[in-house]
Amino acid sequence: MTIAFPENFVWGASTSAYQIEGAVHEDGRGESIWDVFCRVPDAIRTGETGAIACDHYHLWHRDVALLRDLGVGAYRFSVAWPRIFPDGRGRPNAAGLDFYDRLVDALGEAGIDPWVCLYHWDLPQALERRDGWRNRDIAARFADYACTVANRLGDRVSYFLTLNEPSVTAWLGHATGEHAPGLAETDAFHAAIHHQNLAHGTAVDALRQENEGWKLGIVLSLAPTRPADDSQSALEAADMLDALWNGAFLDPIYHGRYPERVAPLVDRYVDSGDLERIARPLDLLGVNHYARLYARPDRAAVAGLAMGAAPAGAPTTSMGWEIDGGGLSETLLRLKDDYRNPPVFITENGAAFDDIPAEDGRVHDGDRIDYLREYIEAVASARTGGADVRGYFAWSLLDNFEWAEGYDRRFGLVHVDFETRDRTPKDSFRWYAELAHEGILR
Ligand code: FCB
Repeated sequence: MTIAFPENFVWGASTSAYQIEGAVHEDGRGESIWDVFCRVPDAIRTGETGAIACDHYHLWHRDVALLRDLGVGAYRFSVAWPRIFPDGRGRPNAAGLDFYDRLVDALGEAGIDPWVCLYHWDLPQALERRDGWRNRDIAARFADYACTVANRLGDRVSYFLTLNEPSVTAWLGHATGEHAPGLAETDAFHAAIHHQNLAHGTAVDALRQENEGWKLGIVLSLAPTRPADDSQSALEAADMLDALWNGAFLDPIYHGRYPERVAPLVDRYVDSGDLERIARPLDLLGVNHYARLYARPDRAAVAGLAMGAAPAGAPTTSMGWEIDGGGLSETLLRLKDDYRNPPVFITENGAAFDDIPAEDGRVHDGDRIDYLREYIEAVASARTGGADVRGYFAWSLLDNFEWAEGYDRRFGLVHVDFETRDRTPKDSFRWYAELAHEGILR
């Protein structure tokens, strides 16, 4: 079967700052919550850190050349907030801005559209010391930072995305403690939900005031939820997870209110005017999707429930995440039906497998090609069903620092040797290059 995508469908690749840049002490960069979290014993499964990562901060020329070889029309990367505001406030750090300025220029020369994500989890530690996402003041700090970046890059960049996956920051960062800043507290969890929404809305207002021409959006991690077993309590946990994971972010943005189950939890943080601000119209929605979520009750957990990403016996990636493109088409059709069919770009989708270079030096990752084919087919089927999906960004350009999992969860289209930092395009790179070139899924 072959599927033809329209000519203006955007094919891209994604990365994020902390996962690839390294150079954490260079050119005046301040500490981020991930630098601090990586020092906590056992926080990272492999004991590794993002201190060097792919060394993209020095090797970015090579990575732009790889993007050119890949032939994608767009590249989504994130700006490290602590490179721009090492102390969280005050005067911006010129060297930090210069780095992204050069990157944007090089992308322009390569004919690649830069999509700038303003926050991909690396909060300045200086702001965490002021209670980070628990503190309402962060909304104003984020809007200042967003405008500083956009005013510098926005003569060449049209697309700005505010936050990456606020549900993950709220949940893993503040409810289970698996991600930075490593909190597992009910109040922190609820405050982080609302203050991220508020920061998004405040930044959108501020950016629109600066320049009405910029295309603005947010990146949400969206997934259908399922009960982990057929008990009534698991069913209830799945409904609650849906409200906390998907609805807590989609509903305020598209319906101007929190889901019924979430409203009483976040109410005390919501001031008058907040919901109007969060619901300002957007140009696009970025959707990250990997797998369905399976919920079961867990009284000891902050959210009262626990989740996994696969039922027993399901085919999975090396993350243990279920492989089933049906979860993606279901997600996209729900946006069409329940959220007025917003213009959607898949801003992340991809798979980790235990890629081992073969004797010929190449990485024959047929499993990743199969995965990508299945999920991109799901995008096509949602489009046929009427969902307004306009682009797809593969996660990720490079193998990188996979947060609490370290470096052996390889998501890249390009293999990275973390001793030498050598980059080797995998078979999936060539497959995706052909797709991006022809717009035909084979
Ligand atoms: C997403 C993150 C991204 C990466 C992928 C695998 O949740 O946004 O940084 O870790 O998962």
